[in-house]
Amino acid sequence: MGRLVIVSNRVASITPGKASTGGLAVGIGDVLGKAGGLWFGWNGETSPQSPEQVQVTEHGNITLATIGLSRKDYEQYYLGFSNNVLWPAFHYRSDLIRYQRDEYEGYQRANLWLAEKLFPLLKPDDIIWVHDYHLIPMAAALRAMGVKNKIGFFLHIPFPTQPILTCIPPSSELLRALSHYDLVGFQTPSDRQAFVDCLTRESGARKLDEDNLQMEDRVVRSGVYPISVYPDEIEDQAHTAASRRHLRRLRQSLLDRKLIISVDRLDYSKGQFERFRAFEKLMEIQPSHRSALSMVQIAPLSRSDIKTYQKIRHDLEGEAGRINGRFGDIDYTPIRYINRNYERSTLMAFFRGAQVGAVTPLRDGMNLVAKEYVAAQHRDDPGVLVLSRFAGAAAEFDGALLVNPYDTLGMAEAMHRALTMPKEERKERHASMLQQLKTNDLGAWWRRFLGDLAV
Ligand code: ADP
Ligand code: F6P
Repeated sequence: MGRLVIVSNRVASITPGKASTGGLAVGIGDVLGKAGGLWFGWNGETSPQSPEQVQVTEHGNITLATIGLSRKDYEQYYLGFSNNVLWPAFHYRSDLIRYQRDEYEGYQRANLWLAEKLFPLLKPDDIIWVHDYHLIPMAAALRAMGVKNKIGFFLHIPFPTQPILTCIPPSSELLRALSHYDLVGFQTPSDRQAFVDCLTRESGARKLDEDNLQMEDRVVRSGVYPISVYPDEIEDQAHTAASRRHLRRLRQSLLDRKLIISVDRLDYSKGQFERFRAFEKLMEIQPSHRSALSMVQIAPLSRSDIKTYQKIRHDLEGEAGRINGRFGDIDYTPIRYINRNYERSTLMAFFRGAQVGAVTPLRDGMNLVAKEYVAAQHRDDPGVLVLSRFAGAAAEFDGALLVNPYDTLGMAEAMHRALTMPKEERKERHASMLQQLKTNDLGAWWRRFLGDLAV
């Protein structure tokens, strides 16, 4: 196989111990750590003008090639079309779409510019793997420059059904852009199905067989590749000396109280607000939990320059304060609401210390936290995963307690059931999910995708 070239909007730090939040960064960091290759994308910085130079640094078998964005590209391509149109639309929040034509033009311009910067770094036998919604037009841009290499695309977030996708004014252009990839990968069968339906209904593509569509002179191949984790590595991480120390600190601070843990970027798609309400409802309907249960919500700040993100932050701060005011005591804070990052092993130890993992997004491509929570549990005394039916992970985890995050009472009841579940049932549920993780780990995700792309 040729060299692997990964292209994603954001290139994460690969400094050991430095935490990256976001499933994409965690997944790609691992692929490159094991397979080696080049990772090209944005370095997270902005400047008044587009920078000329790509910064290339070597880290063992990984080459990082990064570049800053001009302020205008940051606003139009990243904040604007990517995160004020594609993100809400693909997460079924058409009410939050803020479309402006000039921002879509900025999205195309930035993709073209990034393709031009990547082009000189490419070799003829490279396998190019483009990630996520920011870079949908990348293949078409590279093809127009004469690139003949295999180019694959993986969408980390959900793919919407036709009624939602078509709320995006240039939806047909996006579908056409996706048809320039050799392989388009999705997290779940229903995401792939939505893509196939959109392409046939909106763009006149013809179904050749289960995996292939004919669109004009191109065959568009698609597949399902659920991203995952390495369960054994997570179990080890939850056990390192440093993480055991953090776990001790957490336990001491809890004073024998039970713990529900949630970890997700501060994002309206993650359902944190609805989760706080469900926790409050639990306190109302099961007074025995008052003073005997804490919730830790770790929510690193994300996309803070976007209004909808500023609003959800404001709302969550208010809600945590209100619920803590209502049920707290001089020595008891029901919800511990934290915006900081933690080292990965520390986070895994926190998961191990929690009787319940509450992963209740309103919509999510996969949700790696759900998988990490399961992998971090003690096999002889595991916690229970309360999981939204709208997370991609729900398609794989029959051992979770599935909930509808729009049903506050239903979520509160599921939390109570999880907190009081007999050990035998917990072990049975956990074993089935762990088995699923072992069969379909992170290595299977990228090996299957790259294997299919190579054909
Ligand atoms: P998304 O990609 O939408 O952010 P995922 O759940 O798929 O959601 O991936 C999030 C990743 O980021 C997980 O691997 C998780 O452990 C990590 N993460 C989230 N919050 C933190 C944090 N505060 N500190 C360190 N890592 C975090
Ligand atoms: O996994 C979804 C995702 O949108 C990634 O594409 C992205 O890198 C991550 O979440 C974090 O978001 P951002 O790069 O906007 O900070």
